[in-house]
Amino acid sequence: MKDVYIFAIESSCDETSMAIVKNGKEIESFTVLTQMDTHAKFGGVVPEVASRMHTENITMVFQETIAKSSISMDRIDAIAVTYAPGLLGSLLVGVEFAKTLALVYKKPLIAVNHMIGHIYANRIDNDLKFPLLALVVSGGHTDLIKMNKDYDFQILGSTLDDAIGEAFDKVARILGLQYPGGPNVERLALQGQPTYDLPKPLNDSSYNFSFSGLKSSIINLVHNEQQRHHEIRKSDLACSFQTAAVDQLKRKVKLALKNGEYQELILAGGVSASRYLRHEMEEIAINHHIPLSVPDFKYCTDNAAMIGAAAYPLFLNHQFADFNLNAQSNLPITSK
Ligand code: KG4
Ligand code: ZN
Repeated sequence: MKDVYIFAIESSCDETSMAIVKNGKEIESFTVLTQMDTHAKFGGVVPEVASRMHTENITMVFQETIAKSSISMDRIDAIAVTYAPGLLGSLLVGVEFAKTLALVYKKPLIAVNHMIGHIYANRIDNDLKFPLLALVVSGGHTDLIKMNKDYDFQILGSTLDDAIGEAFDKVARILGLQYPGGPNVERLALQGQPTYDLPKPLNDSSYNFSFSGLKSSIINLVHNEQQRHHEIRKSDLACSFQTAAVDQLKRKVKLALKNGEYQELILAGGVSASRYLRHEMEEIAINHHIPLSVPDFKYCTDNAAMIGAAAYPLFLNHQFADFNLNAQSNLPITSK
């Protein structure tokens, strides 16, 4: 079969990223421009600032991505773009740029769900082994998903309140750490022990998750200790939180793997960059005699390579988008 080259664009939050992806797997060119330092000054992503920066940077990111590769736009088979979920203003910049490229270079357009992109980040270095269990953990999502084949998603459970990444970011703020909180909480936790006694939410037989109780208990604990002029052992608190949050993921993953129907366990989303989470899930996979797939660190957080990987099965099925494609801030993970 002829090689397929997809030009992919991601701009759903605070990264402007583009990639040229061959056959859904091989990364021919890859650029990520992060706005993290700007948003860190505000303690989180400011949507208006994010979309403005995407607009300023998107042409430069395009030029750089083309310049780094021997693949010219003539050789590209389709333009793929993240159209949902995410920040509306940010998504729109990428969607409009993708439409313009598709129009100018006369290429088909492929609309990709950002969260499905995170799942397909695992296809960049590996083949997916179905049926698989996917743990999707990001700033906006915490889902446990069964996949029987490409683009076949059965949601077994989701968070009932906060996403795990959101909880990491809020706890980081309480501990006085910079945005994005996840990596900073992990760094601090390395110096501590899980000595604080925290609640174990949703200790039940469902596949759902809950993180807001855990977050609130930390807020209360910090306020109480401050009122009593007690010292807070920040590294121990970070370690206790990380242990409790990941413990909940471990319980639900073990529950799902109990019946032995899965060929593989995969991690997806920004929180899968956590070395602690990766280590704990590796142990579970070994105990269940199945492989664990985790994306390379550079494909864990938002990037366009994963969008090119997720667009490939849609290309093979001729599932193209119209020029009236619009961005959507909310969209569940659905089979197409
Ligand atoms: O997937 P992502 O880049 O953006 C969304 O689609 O949400 O995920 C970002 C989230 C943030 O909440 C960030 O704090 C979290 O991933 N994160 C981590 C780590 N690295 C990133 N959380 C825990 N430990 C990490 N090492
Ligand atoms: Zn993401």
